[in-house]
Amino acid sequence: MPTNMKIKKIWKWLLAQIFRIFLFLSSHFISLNLVSFLSPYFPLIYSVISRKRAAVTMIQRITRLAQSLPLRPSSASKLGAYCYFASGAASSTQQLCKPSLKSPNVRDDEYADVEWDNLGFGIVPTDYIYIMKCSKDDNFEEGQLCRYGNIELSPAAGVLSYGQGVYEGTKVYRKEDGRLLLFRPDENAIRMRIGAERMCMPSPSIHQFVDAVKQIAQANRRWVPPPGKGSLYIRPVLIGSGPTLGLAPAPEYTFFIYASPVQNYFKEGFAPLNLYVEDEYDRASLGGTGGVKSITNYAPVLKAMSRAKNRGFLDVLYLDSVNRKNVEEVSSCNVFIVKGNVISTPPAAGTILAGITRKTVIEIAGDHGYKVEERSIPVDEIMDADEVFCTGTAVGVAPVGTITYQNKRKEFKTGIDTVCPVLYSTLMGIKTGMIEDKKGWVVEI
Ligand SMILES: Cc1ncc(COP(=O)(O)O)c(C=O)c1O
Repeated sequence: MPTNMKIKKIWKWLLAQIFRIFLFLSSHFISLNLVSFLSPYFPLIYSVISRKRAAVTMIQRITRLAQSLPLRPSSASKLGAYCYFASGAASSTQQLCKPSLKSPNVRDDEYADVEWDNLGFGIVPTDYIYIMKCSKDDNFEEGQLCRYGNIELSPAAGVLSYGQGVYEGTKVYRKEDGRLLLFRPDENAIRMRIGAERMCMPSPSIHQFVDAVKQIAQANRRWVPPPGKGSLYIRPVLIGSGPTLGLAPAPEYTFFIYASPVQNYFKEGFAPLNLYVEDEYDRASLGGTGGVKSITNYAPVLKAMSRAKNRGFLDVLYLDSVNRKNVEEVSSCNVFIVKGNVISTPPAAGTILAGITRKTVIEIAGDHGYKVEERSIPVDEIMDADEVFCTGTAVGVAPVGTITYQNKRKEFKTGIDTVCPVLYSTLMGIKTGMIEDKKGWVVEI
């Protein structure tokens, strides 16, 4: 090797050693802020000194090494690796989750270690959650992906005493070619904003919401089941996380998203639902929050649900709270009836959640030539329908086999020659990319 080359090699090696010592000292005695501050300039500094491309590469390697070192919390905010949140009103900075140091990118062919054939609808902890915070009267800014784990909350958080919170649910499907597909996530974003307004909360913008959903799907992509084996259920939640003793809007808000791979919502799979008409407990009241996805709507139905389950039913069909005469919806899905060529569903006019699946199915049914009506449906009329089905992100389009009302049990037509499977297969075909999406509903990640 010529002497010139030897000198260059020694020079490179010497510089590498100096940087290593510098990094070692930094991580122990000096704040890593200095390293993080200088790190973007390492390549520049060195290239100015040596003007050699190879050396720049070497320094870049060292920089990456510096970034992968465990960090002290003091340097976390600079390096953006920890999830820290300035809590204006709470006047303290809280660490809500563990740092996300690993790159969220996984290879397309990598799958998490899951028995895909045994998925139900339960929590399977994945790799990442997304968190974004803001204080009252402020706007949400810059959320972060964090390692999956518990989140920290003040015991006086508004959501805990006063139920100030809304949530959403959407699903990601994996196409045969590996691409990930979302379905109408902007509709979830809009619904969250409407719900947040009703619950006196600031909410992420539509762009922030959709972007966060895409990020969480991408970061957890190895948990998206193979085609035909289910989907990755995504749960965005917005809560009043700041402390408040008196009944008032919380001083601080947290928007977070977690995900879980799922298959069928009901453990009975695709079997037709048997529903019980509840005429004692109400789900929603006129002027209440039934029309938004407030967390306060769900615990009150548990009593009715468990009573129905103890009597052998799968779920509950609720009536309007004024006259207990018209059907409204099921605990977590909307309801439709079919009579001849007419499909009807109760109007989403305040007490019923305006389901995104409901809205989609209304359009698909119209495209298939059915007449679709949104109108009040007396419970006696539903007992006289040809067919009944439910819609929701979790259940898809699910046939109802029986409805029991005041000890009267009615059986409905189910099976291949009914409307439900036509709507189900069209909806699922579009969601999974098997049927061309001509409506702009599917969003590729
Ligand atoms: C009460 C209630 N109704 C209906 C639905 C269906 O809504 P979507 O189709 O948007 O999932 C849900 C689920 O979110 C729900 O919780």
